[in-house]
Amino acid sequence: CGIVGYIGDGNVYDVLIKGLHRLEYRGYDSAGIALVNPSGSLNVYKAMGKVSNLENYCKDKNLEAKAGIAHTRWATHGEPSDCNAHPHYSEDGNLALVHNGTIENYKLLKDALTQHGCKFHSETDTEVLVQLIEYIKIKNNCSLLDAVREALKQVVGAYAIAVVEKDHPNRIIAARKSSPLVIGIGEDEMFLASDATPFVEYTKECVYLKDEEVAIIERGEPLKLVTLENKEAKIDVTTLELSISQLEKGGYPHFMLKEIFEQPSTLKDCIRGRVAEKGRRIIISGVMDNAEKFLNAKRVVIVACGTSWHAGLLGKYLIQDMCRIPVEVEYASEFRYSNPVLDERDIVIAISQSGETADTLAAINIAKSMGAFVYGISNVVGSSIPRETDSGTYIHVGPEIGVASTKAFTGQVMVLTLLAAAIAQLKGTKSPEEIEEIGKTVNKIPSYVEKVLKLNDKIERLSLIYTYARNFLYLGRGYSYPVALEGALKLKEISYIHAEGYPAAEMKHGPIALIDAEMPSVIIAPNDHLYEKIVNNVQQVKARGGSIIAIVTEGDTVIRNIADHVLEVPEVPECLSPIITSIPLQLLSYYIAINKGKDVDMPRNLAKSVTVE
Ligand code: G6P
Repeated sequence: CGIVGYIGDGNVYDVLIKGLHRLEYRGYDSAGIALVNPSGSLNVYKAMGKVSNLENYCKDKNLEAKAGIAHTRWATHGEPSDCNAHPHYSEDGNLALVHNGTIENYKLLKDALTQHGCKFHSETDTEVLVQLIEYIKIKNNCSLLDAVREALKQVVGAYAIAVVEKDHPNRIIAARKSSPLVIGIGEDEMFLASDATPFVEYTKECVYLKDEEVAIIERGEPLKLVTLENKEAKIDVTTLELSISQLEKGGYPHFMLKEIFEQPSTLKDCIRGRVAEKGRRIIISGVMDNAEKFLNAKRVVIVACGTSWHAGLLGKYLIQDMCRIPVEVEYASEFRYSNPVLDERDIVIAISQSGETADTLAAINIAKSMGAFVYGISNVVGSSIPRETDSGTYIHVGPEIGVASTKAFTGQVMVLTLLAAAIAQLKGTKSPEEIEEIGKTVNKIPSYVEKVLKLNDKIERLSLIYTYARNFLYLGRGYSYPVALEGALKLKEISYIHAEGYPAAEMKHGPIALIDAEMPSVIIAPNDHLYEKIVNNVQQVKARGGSIIAIVTEGDTVIRNIADHVLEVPEVPECLSPIITSIPLQLLSYYIAINKGKDVDMPRNLAKSVTVE
């Protein structure tokens, strides 16, 4: 979910709606807005579906306001509906509240409030919170701030909230625990949001709230932060490096296509300053600063979710291969409940584009509590994961807005490659010549990617043949196996076609039964040490009448004669091939989804940043 708030002399409604559009990547099941009218009324408007539905709904409404809060939802408790949409308000209509997170003990609180006569109108955990605040406010005859603090002390779970009060049009109270919240400080105006994108064109000065801090945002007053115990908290102002052009489509029909085409430059940004002496030296400061940890590591455990998990799987191949350290890769959501065995000689690498994924954050906290050294790989500067980890590396690919991850994936894989090379350089598990080969190729990757993107038109044409396939198989071996998983996920996410990624050789133990003329296979088969092996797998598919799209290295002669279609990519050392081979798969899924008329930037049911369990 995404939340946004504004207080100031600008047009409150316009600022909030624009802000919601920027946060829509966080969920778009429903949206809503609460406007505190200067005449002392509190107007709450909500609509199911995307923010544009809310805009239509608000067309003939009273939008006059001094302050307001708004929300775009990714449903957790309760189906997507107008009633379950935020803001939620208290029984007497005095308070409105927006919330991102999950209140775990909401049932208990709800039962207690019901016994005290509270009536509930939605199935959400959030309504419990606003009713609780109002109940405390009346019972203790206290201020909104005190009621919020007291209520939050009773809450178990994660929250970023903002509350407005009917009779106080000049004030917003906000708080956070485990869900992100940032406050923008402008000239005579203040903003709050789940990330800085809603206010970047108004101010670059912002304050990231820490866990269990409550913000008092009041017109004409400086920002004030207190703890749940009402102790004044320190205000650390950060200057944003984000620019507004990074948040626009720049002439492309979709963010996803823009982000695919940005990869030559995002990879350049990702590499910048990390390959020195014409490729002879790899510089990853997190490795150099913690050399002892990396030299003595007995094991690496990688935790991540979704596409980041696929990057993590590649991290395993890279680190094991180059550094000779055993690596395990875990879904953060499984790891956190698996009673893991860790100690101070383990390095846990947490990978997360957003830096906010709740399961990954929880995994980090467990790893830290067990004494492991935790290293973060993230894209969003200042997000929770970089702040919670002991050290780490940013991928520096700029804001990724399309829900299906593309440039962040290649950035993550690039950082993992550089990380593995930097550890190998430190440990001496790769020779200076081998490091130099990697360094030199890394420098050339952006231009290779540029070349791969020239396949765009061919892939667009090819996509027409396969748009109506109902199932897809993606196959790869070695470094190409995680690429197959990621290719299948991309197709699933945006075209809603069932697709399965599989290790090519494992196919014969099950999925081969599915192959027929109706089920195309995408086979990732660059020229690497498993090439001869995968040729067999290509034959096995062909022998069962399956059609094949193969990603091969330029000049390939063998698979070309077996596959129905080949897409040729430049030759690179095996460890760098995933960055190159994943790009045609991004384009293929994009065009198939477009042919089917799907909303590629906001696929159904998904959210880009999942800050709930
Ligand atoms: C969501 C997104 C995925 C993403 C995953 C992990 O499910 O839809 O694209 O890979 O979260 O997100 P993270 O920000 O931690 O990389």
